Amino acid sequence: MEIVFLGHGSLQIRTADHELVVDPFITANELAKGKVSLNQLHPDFILLTHAHQDHILDVEALAKASGATLISNYEIITHYQGKGLDGHPMNHGGARDFPFGWLKYVNAVHTSSFPDGSYGGQPGGFVLNSGGKTVYIAGDTALHMDMKLIPMDGPVDLAVLPIGDNFTMGAKDAAQAARFVECPRAMGVHYDTFGYIEIDKEAAQAEFQKLGVELLLPEIGEGVTL
Ligand code: NI
Ligand code: MN
Repeated sequence: MEIVFLGHGSLQIRTADHELVVDPFITANELAKGKVSLNQLHPDFILLTHAHQDHILDVEALAKASGATLISNYEIITHYQGKGLDGHPMNHGGARDFPFGWLKYVNAVHTSSFPDGSYGGQPGGFVLNSGGKTVYIAGDTALHMDMKLIPMDGPVDLAVLPIGDNFTMGAKDAAQAARFVECPRAMGVHYDTFGYIEIDKEAAQAEFQKLGVELLLPEIGEGVTL
């Protein structure tokens, strides 16, 4: 499984036979300009952690161009089905075998309104197991104790964690989150995109080092193979 950082909270995941995109926010991300573009993405599935603008901005354009099936909470899927898109609803604690692998929608501590203020259900994260490897995608979240439940389903090979602080965990709590999910390696996301979440990368690395967790901060368009 290959996990490519597309900027902010956006990921492209290539499994053996499928392409997934998580939380597409690309066209309005100044940091992603010239590095990634929507037309290089051809997802079979689009995973959405919650309904905030910085996670769903490019969903409609990408879903229409690719014909991808959306996977998210019930409220977000109902919203997009009303716009004619294909979707598969889940809710917290629910897992299912999809063509690309096993996927569980897990708890996050955050909010989830759509940009117009309408209800976007409760926010979540995902645990994906594909090809014998597992990635935990925390979504926007605070550090919380339910993260300790995640490794009970099996070992986590990579934790994708927000580190930008202010709206989500900062690096110190994110390092603890990696410990909670018993994962020695994390990819930091959701930082530097806007002023509120600009970080000192060296300080972030130091927080992870203190807890013995490797922090990957790939350039936009680059990633990691599990
Ligand atoms: Ni959010
Ligand atoms: Mn966000």
